[in-house]
Amino acid sequence: MYKLSAVTKNYAKGRETVAALRGVDLVIEDGEWLAIQGPTGHGKSTLLQILGGLDRPSGGIVDFDGRDLAQLREAEVTRVRAASVGFVFQTFNLIPTLSAQENVEAALVPLHVSAAARQQRAAVALETVGLGDRLRHVPGELSGGQQQRVAIARALVKEPKVLLADEPTGNLDEDTRDEIIGLLEVMWRERGLTMVLVTHDSTVARRAQRIGVMKNGRLTFRKAARAQAARTQAAGAQDAPVQAALSPLSPRSSSSASSGLQPPDLPAAKESSVDSVRADE
Ligand SMILES: Nc1ncnc2c1ncn2[C@@H]1O[C@H](COP(=O)(O)OP(=O)(O)OP(=O)(O)O)[C@@H](O)[C@H]1O
Ligand SMILES: [Mg+2]
Repeated sequence: MYKLSAVTKNYAKGRETVAALRGVDLVIEDGEWLAIQGPTGHGKSTLLQILGGLDRPSGGIVDFDGRDLAQLREAEVTRVRAASVGFVFQTFNLIPTLSAQENVEAALVPLHVSAAARQQRAAVALETVGLGDRLRHVPGELSGGQQQRVAIARALVKEPKVLLADEPTGNLDEDTRDEIIGLLEVMWRERGLTMVLVTHDSTVARRAQRIGVMKNGRLTFRKAARAQAARTQAAGAQDAPVQAALSPLSPRSSSSASSGLQPPDLPAAKESSVDSVRADE
């Protein structure tokens, strides 16, 4: 799905330059769930924005299904983003004056879906996230967890290949966090999505197959508990289940989160720098 080579990103800050990414190499397989942790200000959101074509790298290659997002013309990047990438943000980023239904429909406008089909698909998407009875509510009339469900419906209604989530549970209490991660997990498993989830929360990160840690603009990896446990369980049995357990699209047991390597504890969530959504999402 993705193959990043030597990706750098520098931001000009007055006369100084901030090196947000300092040479990131990353391969993300189709159907993989990758979590990214790391201290605040170390490049996580920057990486996610580059994966989603919301921003361009200063150098390197961002191969997305055979096309280098760093080289594509802006209109083409916009097209890729509208068709193939769903975003979910910490602050939900719903349009406050639009109903849940209209917020979800908005994601289909750039794809030239007819009004009738938009309505129908948005209603189905909201039904899928458990909000079939809240179609006409505006965001202010919904709880935080419900607003995030609307945002997930908006991200998924266009049936993207990739879901990029930046601190999707950062504004939610623990129970709601667990609900939202459970929902994302179901969507990931049932739709064969590729998912990249930035989080400060180790409980959330451990649900992924692989955990990357961003530090000083560089990315390193540790195996997530889920993959580790799958391997441990299968050890001593046949080889085939090992492959099956580690394959991105195979069903997994949620109990696997309790053993294996643990990611480091990281600082508590803070406001994400990505708090505005582009008009085409
Ligand atoms: N538009 C910008 N202009 C200048 N500097 C920026 C810009 N966006 C990010 N930066 C800088 O780049 C670095 C990485 O920022 P980024 O938002 O990727 O961090 P992060 O790991 O997502 O942090 P957090 O956990 O707080 O969300 C930071 O030092 C930040 O100040
Ligand atoms: Mg961030």
